[in-house]
Amino acid sequence: MAKLRAAITGIHAWAPADILTNKELEKMVDTTDEWITSRTGIKERHILKGKGLGTSDMGVEAVKGLLKKTGTTPDEVDLLICATVTPDMQFPATANIISDKVGIKNAFSFDMNAACSTFIFALVTASKYVESGEYKKVIVVGGDKMSSITDYTDRATCVIFGDAAGAVLLEPTTDEIGIMDHRFYTDGSGRVHLHQKAGGSVKPASHETVDAREHFIYQEGQPVFKFAVTNMADVAVEIMERNHLSSDDIDWLVPHQANLRIIEATARRMKLDKNKVMINIQRYGNTTNGTIPMCLYEWENQLKKGDNLVLAAFGGGFTWGAIYLKWAYDGKR
Ligand code: UT7
Repeated sequence: MAKLRAAITGIHAWAPADILTNKELEKMVDTTDEWITSRTGIKERHILKGKGLGTSDMGVEAVKGLLKKTGTTPDEVDLLICATVTPDMQFPATANIISDKVGIKNAFSFDMNAACSTFIFALVTASKYVESGEYKKVIVVGGDKMSSITDYTDRATCVIFGDAAGAVLLEPTTDEIGIMDHRFYTDGSGRVHLHQKAGGSVKPASHETVDAREHFIYQEGQPVFKFAVTNMADVAVEIMERNHLSSDDIDWLVPHQANLRIIEATARRMKLDKNKVMINIQRYGNTTNGTIPMCLYEWENQLKKGDNLVLAAFGGGFTWGAIYLKWAYDGKR
């Protein structure tokens, strides 16, 4: 019997309308458009404004669009996983909130958190449910309201992050398409370089933690950069070698958008032309779990059935990995 695989059969994404440009950041912290552009590739990022709005609200927009374009009713969904580091609340899961808001009632749902790698980790987790044969329609949402944990007085981090969300539908197939292979890694010792100090069980929120600005992202840029640039490239090359793929066989690299220099280094190691690399960091910055679905959504028109995609990410924790995916349909659905 042919192997059951999980194929992405639809993608939708959403970014809030408000834009924060480098020029505006120049007025907020001691930085320049030139520094931000040359060190990161970012020109602007989208910010979710409005009281009471969180990651679930962006996820809802992505899921609603996904259901509509794939002709799926909420009742048909079996499972929804949300990949996020900025849940609406510590609990319950943002996945449950999204499901409730879009009327998904016959599914169970949960969140995953592996920092910037969560979306690809969640995609493979979801694929295992689909491959079991028991789950026919599984949604993975990747999204983050990074502005909610960004310190807009810290020039080293506030220029990097933005807000967005995307969602994919996974369905079973016996064709040679879908998620073909993956390699994932974690190294918890990297946590010292990138984390959020307070708000967890070690350091619950207090007046002191708020005064010390410990509820924001803490990042030591250089060590994170060094690990990211090596490991994301290594794992992308590893997934190619494991699957006997040359650079000519790869149609698209879909990289996490953390820094243009990391993306370019990964593409160089894979010996890929720049026109095979999805890059939109200049317009969105690092939206953490929104980056890869945002890219897939923007490039959906150009994708063809059977295209070989490598999805690669690196994130806090440290976490990193790559997926080899064969695209399942032609152009926009
Ligand atoms: O997505 C999850 C994983 N995260 C990543 O992959 C991020 C990895 N790291 C990076 O992308 C880069 O390290 C950053 C973009 C965060 C920083 O770039 P960098 O080239 O590594 O700069 P740096 O941290 O080494 O700082 C160089 C200089 C410093 O000044 P001095 O000490 O040389 O005088 C910083 O204070 O640049 C300064 N600097 C800035 N200057 C102007 C830091 N941020 C800024 C800024 N504007 N926004």
